Amino acid sequence: MSTQNKSFNFQQRREAKFNQMAAASSSSSSNKPTNFSQKLFIISLLLLSFSLFLFVLSFKPKQQPHLAYEPNNKYNTNHLIHRPKWLDIVEKHINGHKIKVGLVNINDDDDDDYNSVRGDMHVETVHVRFDHVGEDKKWEDFFPEWIDEDHKWAPPACPDIPMPAQDYRYLDVIVVRVPCRGDGDAGGGMRDVFRLQVNLVVANLAVESGWLKPDVDRAVYVVFVGSCGAMVEMFRCDDLVEHAGDYWVYKPDLRRLKHKVLMPVGSCQIASAYAQTGKEIWRYFMSQARLAKLNYTTYHQREAYVTVLHSSEAYVCGAIALAQSIIQKNSTRDLVLLHDKSISGKSLRGLRAAGWKTKWISRIRSPFSKKDSYNEWNYSKLRVWQLTEYDKIIFIDSDLLVLKNIDEFFFYPELSAAGNDKVLFNSGVMVIEPSLCKFEDMMLKSFKVSSYNGGDQGFLNEVFTWWHRLPKRINHLKVFSKQDDKEHQVGDGLYAIHYLGLKPWMCYKDYDCNWDMVSRHVFASDSAHKKWWQVYDAMPKKLQQYCALTKHMDKRIKKWRRIAENASLANGHWKIKPKDPRQIILLITNEGRVKFF
Ligand SMILES: *[C@@H]1O[C@H](CO)[C@@H](O)[C@H](O)[C@H]1NC(C)=O
Ligand SMILES: *[C@@H]1O[C@H](CO)[C@@H](O)[C@H](O)[C@H]1NC(C)=O
Ligand SMILES: *[C@@H]1O[C@H](CO)[C@@H](O)[C@H](O)[C@H]1NC(C)=O
Ligand SMILES: *[C@@H]1O[C@H](CO)[C@@H](O)[C@H](O)[C@H]1NC(C)=O
Repeated sequence: MSTQNKSFNFQQRREAKFNQMAAASSSSSSNKPTNFSQKLFIISLLLLSFSLFLFVLSFKPKQQPHLAYEPNNKYNTNHLIHRPKWLDIVEKHINGHKIKVGLVNINDDDDDDYNSVRGDMHVETVHVRFDHVGEDKKWEDFFPEWIDEDHKWAPPACPDIPMPAQDYRYLDVIVVRVPCRGDGDAGGGMRDVFRLQVNLVVANLAVESGWLKPDVDRAVYVVFVGSCGAMVEMFRCDDLVEHAGDYWVYKPDLRRLKHKVLMPVGSCQIASAYAQTGKEIWRYFMSQARLAKLNYTTYHQREAYVTVLHSSEAYVCGAIALAQSIIQKNSTRDLVLLHDKSISGKSLRGLRAAGWKTKWISRIRSPFSKKDSYNEWNYSKLRVWQLTEYDKIIFIDSDLLVLKNIDEFFFYPELSAAGNDKVLFNSGVMVIEPSLCKFEDMMLKSFKVSSYNGGDQGFLNEVFTWWHRLPKRINHLKVFSKQDDKEHQVGDGLYAIHYLGLKPWMCYKDYDCNWDMVSRHVFASDSAHKKWWQVYDAMPKKLQQYCALTKHMDKRIKKWRRIAENASLANGHWKIKPKDPRQIILLITNEGRVKFF
């Protein structure tokens, strides 16, 4: 709430108090003489109201000499009534010079609010003109399910979103009325193209006005007017300086905003010709770093790969192999693993030996999942936003394996991910920027916004409806369709494989056991399986022990091999005589002759 609001309330209360006092004194004068304690009471009330009065005076906003409602100003004080609230708000932050205000999506020239501002000699307003994005354009046009990443046919293109043609440089404030239609009220995210356009116009104006040279910027404020506020994907809660009712005032971090306006307008393209524009941002980074006496190394110390283990130890081996795969590719970034109490001390020692810095968290329940369902605790992933000791994080699920150094992707802004289906991204690999207010925001939203699958992916897709596409190769989903080759070979040049279906360490080393179950054939791939075991083979022995077969796992493999054999499954994997040494060690252990651990 603004100070004006506060003082106004005090004013009202003060008046009420005076009226009360007047009533009290008039009635007391006509009544019989008051006794001493009554007098004392009245005096103390008088004293109290006087001190309240002084208190109220001290709360009056500091009047700046140029304010339109200053008593001796030539402007009529009636304007006080019509003065738009945002002007009061921004005047607190900008003073001493004439304020140049750009109005976006505020076209009502008869609007008294804006006429009165126009008459103010200390404010100059300009209507920002741009063409409305075509009504025929849908969200799906900007977030297509598939794009031609490899340019086999043609480079992917995004539909046109018109931006202002004219140059509106040197704005101090951009005031925007946001369109708040769409399905946002129904609990989902808003996917409205016009709203996106308006936010992009504002972001571009702010950058144009504020980002003068890579290391020189000037303050620009943005005021969003409307119940739905700004798109939080573009305007960070960290930059929110004031929020009162339907007014949201931001002072955007221009470096991050610049980065975002350089990104494609949707997931219709991959930020490709990036190197050059990236340089500009990078120079700015470095100039800031110099000011903060940081060097390149210390800067990178603020980036990390993060994974989360919760509810069971089933993925401990996966996380160990993941860390090893990242390290084997010579990454220079930190590895951080968040875990809940279900991970034993022994497993934690293994995870640390594999390269993870481990951090305890309490898991978070998904409000929309069924009890004991597979995704009941998947919102634990949101805790990644609490890791504010890092600027940038590549979150990566524990059932992925990195095949090629992916450090270059730290350059992407939040939220960047590979596509999943429809307009959605896959939450298995995501570039995110930690922020406590963002985390708290999401916690509040988690009870309102539903998730299509009850898991974190559905939820995050409603929070980050505007996301940036990473190449599919960074989160290659190991899943095949009928059109794919019969062998289910994974392609070359992949950055990381996401092992859907039964995990490699839950099968014998010899072949992908997804082949033994008809319902899981879509996930079966011996070539992907082999890549995982190559990382395993390169791991120190003491880490390999965390990928041992359990009796339970072994029994399940054998059961499905029998079923496959009995059904004579055409893929014939059941014929393979397993040579996996883990099986033998398991047998020996069962007989109690060799203690494996
Ligand atoms: C950068 O900073 C790190 C840690 O503060 C220090 O170890 C390193 O020597 C510095 N490098 C240079 C080139 O100054
Ligand atoms: C990692 O670095 C080592 C030593 O510099 C080098 O031999 C190896 O080829 C590198 N590996 C990759 C995947 O770049
Ligand atoms: C939820 O977490 C479980 C266990 O970590 C994982 O197997 C599952 O794929 C996740 N589900 C979603 C929808 O993210
Ligand atoms: C094999 O299949 C037949 C019929 O398809 C069934 O009667 C038999 O019980 C199966 N045997 C095993 C070991 O599953």
